[in-house]
Amino acid sequence: MNRDQLLNELSAFLRIPSVSTLPAHNQDCRAAAEWVAQELRRLGCHNVQFLGSETHPVVWGAGPEVAGAPTLLIYGHYDVQPPDPLAEWTTPPFEPTVRDGRLYARGAADDKGQVFCLLKAIAASPRPPLNFRFLIEGEEEYGSKVLFDLVEREPQRVQADAILVADMSYVAPGWPAVYTTLRGLAYAEITVRTSKTDLHSGEYGGAAPNAHEELARLLTRIKGEDGKINIPGFYGPVQRPSKTELAAWKKLPFKEKDFLNQRVQGKGLVGLKQYSVLERLWALPTFEIHGILGGFTGEGAKTVIPAEATAKVSMRLVPNQKLKTVERQLEAAVKRYAPKYVTASIRFLHGADPAQIKLNDPSFKLLDQAFKQVLGRGTVPARAGGSIPVVPALASGGAPVILTGIGLPDDRLHAPNEKLELQQLWDGIEVFRTFYQLLGNTD
Ligand code: BES
Ligand code: MN
Ligand code: MN
Repeated sequence: MNRDQLLNELSAFLRIPSVSTLPAHNQDCRAAAEWVAQELRRLGCHNVQFLGSETHPVVWGAGPEVAGAPTLLIYGHYDVQPPDPLAEWTTPPFEPTVRDGRLYARGAADDKGQVFCLLKAIAASPRPPLNFRFLIEGEEEYGSKVLFDLVEREPQRVQADAILVADMSYVAPGWPAVYTTLRGLAYAEITVRTSKTDLHSGEYGGAAPNAHEELARLLTRIKGEDGKINIPGFYGPVQRPSKTELAAWKKLPFKEKDFLNQRVQGKGLVGLKQYSVLERLWALPTFEIHGILGGFTGEGAKTVIPAEATAKVSMRLVPNQKLKTVERQLEAAVKRYAPKYVTASIRFLHGADPAQIKLNDPSFKLLDQAFKQVLGRGTVPARAGGSIPVVPALASGGAPVILTGIGLPDDRLHAPNEKLELQQLWDGIEVFRTFYQLLGNTD
């Protein structure tokens, strides 16, 4: 198919602002689901369904089919993260624009562009010798609850010979990867209340407690300046990667200096200094503050002691940590670190267990071979700092879950000016086209 046409089609998908976490975009999420459903029908799916549609529907598809051939389940997501801060986008997030061979839009890499790549690789192939199944969800960026419930109710949906997930990136340009772990996530709001109402900071300041100050202290008790998370029991199950794995990471094209200067573009790195940056990103848990609400933040000045403050926070979890346990530990720490005169509460929004994938199924070799044939370099095993909540559930049926992707590390997922390099997309279509052929022709 011609590239201009592909670009037009992908742009139509990217123009739909399917932000799953914002109720104002419910119709847009529906429209993105319709777009996916239409594509699946065009590919020859005879059975396209919307499942669990009380929220954003999971798009299910079966077909095209080839009798007796292996079954490949393709997973992806059509929802995106909120695009703000809007002022930092060079061109608007939902007006896909090509500059210097890069396609800029929210969702270009995460994950619409990659879903598009997997689908077009089917269309590009003269009838891949596979039976395809699809689960393309619309709530990945908000914890995937719909799909969790679906897989629990109907475990046969994840029955396949292999499950392909392209929602990540190469480890560096020219270096495709296959991932062995994903971090889990526990997302929460911590609220601190210090008085019945806000108070005049002259009349009360010096004697009345201040909710923002208490929240700040509470948060820094949870994670200290040294980067250590001070939650009792939290690091207990965390295991260091093996010596072999750590040695393999040293051979990856990853330089801590470049990570700071080119990717973070800040003045210094933080965290547990006794561990390498890759270990901190891939094999250690985190505690992050996403935003703090409350008090006076409007224009001008107001002298007030805020009565309430809320922080949105999340923790990334690594293999062997359990979401439910960590939630309990965090809640206990919040109660324990808040002084008696403060009412502290916590509300969990969503979460995911970490995932661990063994690369022993033959399909991993075939993906490696496909990348080798197309790019001249096969996949390196790596770990991912991010999360895809439903992966442990996808793996529960016993099929190997192949975690890979066509993005690059500097695609700016969830941030302003997210992009996908077009060459990555064209190569990706060829790689997956090749992979489908290899996978179908083994026996
Ligand atoms: N595609 C990402 C996950 C990802 C990013 C994996 C980078 C590896 C490297 C996914 O869309 C994502 O952002 N997931 C969320 C899940 C959360 C909201 C439950 C995440 O990791 O923040
Ligand atoms: Mn994604
Ligand atoms: Mn994402």
